[in-house]
Amino acid sequence: RSGLPNLAERLENALPAPRLRLLKTVIETATEMRLALYIVGGFVRDLLIGHPSLDFDLVAEGDAIALGKALQARYGGRLTSHKRFGTAKWFLPPDYPQAEALPPFLDLISARAEYYTHPTALPTVERGSIKLDLHRRDFTLNTLALRLDGPHYGELHDYWGGLNDLQKGVIRVLHSLSFVDDPTRMLRAVRFEQRFGFRIEERTLELLTEATPLLERVSGDRVRHELDHILDESRSIPMLERLHELGLLQAIHPDLPWDAEVARLLDAYPHNPPPPEWEAERGLERIPYPRALAYTLWLLRLPEDRALSISRRLKIPRRLEVIIGHAARLWNALPALADLPPSRFTFTLEEWHIRGLSLYACYLTLKDEALRARLRRYQTQWRHLRARTTGEDLKARGLPPGPLYRRVLRSLRAAWLDGKISTPEEERALLERLLEE
Ligand code: CTP
Repeated sequence: RSGLPNLAERLENALPAPRLRLLKTVIETATEMRLALYIVGGFVRDLLIGHPSLDFDLVAEGDAIALGKALQARYGGRLTSHKRFGTAKWFLPPDYPQAEALPPFLDLISARAEYYTHPTALPTVERGSIKLDLHRRDFTLNTLALRLDGPHYGELHDYWGGLNDLQKGVIRVLHSLSFVDDPTRMLRAVRFEQRFGFRIEERTLELLTEATPLLERVSGDRVRHELDHILDESRSIPMLERLHELGLLQAIHPDLPWDAEVARLLDAYPHNPPPPEWEAERGLERIPYPRALAYTLWLLRLPEDRALSISRRLKIPRRLEVIIGHAARLWNALPALADLPPSRFTFTLEEWHIRGLSLYACYLTLKDEALRARLRRYQTQWRHLRARTTGEDLKARGLPPGPLYRRVLRSLRAAWLDGKISTPEEERALLERLLEE
């Protein structure tokens, strides 16, 4: 290990004091148990790049569940574990010092080797060395490990050439079946490449090209999970552009679009909060607004059935799928709706239940100022406007209850919307005429 940097100082500077203290208690316990303990993966990569993150993944060369049990015995809290995988989750006790500044739990992982008997099968798991554990990972830059126990504190372990690739700015798989084992890694390759301004190494790119058709078979949830990550990144647009260029978007779904207009929209809007009058955040529940808007802007210019087919492919949650479908329906109908009287326009949008995010996404996409103004008026005025006359009034006038009520009230509302009446007197006069008819 001579020649490799010792990262102790960087680690101490990267972590806020409470996290560092927590890490040190884990290290102490592992050291007493004579367990080799490592931080692995993204945290080490980011530490070396000089953009440290806060979340570290811990791997023990040996029994991580035993480590969890020892921590629980000493400091309290709860432990859950999976024997088969040799993993444990230690939930800190609520009275742990500075618990509010700490994650609620720590994942403790036993180094393991996994064998895939055939692609897409569940892996066969065996206890292993850290070196073999790291070999399972996606790219060399994610195979770096930082040893923590006893005198090894701060040692960088680089078994698979990760440091060299990190210095050269290269994304490289560890073996030729990496993308076959897990096709979502193709999306991750592009994400890391664009995030760090690296390049996918030549042989890796060849393997990626060969494996591209396999994306078709990956479940919607797994693909969407990767796309969610990409949409959350600050460089999401170059990432999507690159996915498109490599044919990866089309491999996910042949109609998944990419063009300068989608890029413009995703660049301009998702990261700003919507003006409150659009009520664009309603009904999203736990879907973050920027992500919901991004998917809607991405798909709304497609024919409705294709937008829906992509939503289903990506297993987009039902409530967002409905928003996307409505947005596409409205977008495609807008040329025909542009010249309708306000009443017909309003009744159509109401019939289609178009509101909130679907409407706002269309508004953002539109360039025609007159149509934009129309959507805004619908949202802020037309949909709220009602005639003064109520069902009670009609009853008092002796009108027999029935479908006639709706027709009369709708005619009155249409007259207001279209500017044919503009005072209560005019409404009363119109009501008289309608009742005579
Ligand atoms: N990993 C993998 N194949 C995948 C997903 C993850 O090999 N399909 C490995 C990677 O080596 C990664 C580790 O599991 O280092 C943890 O995954 P994740 O938390 O997604 O990655 P990070 O590298 O921390 O990425 P990010 O910075 O985006 O959080």
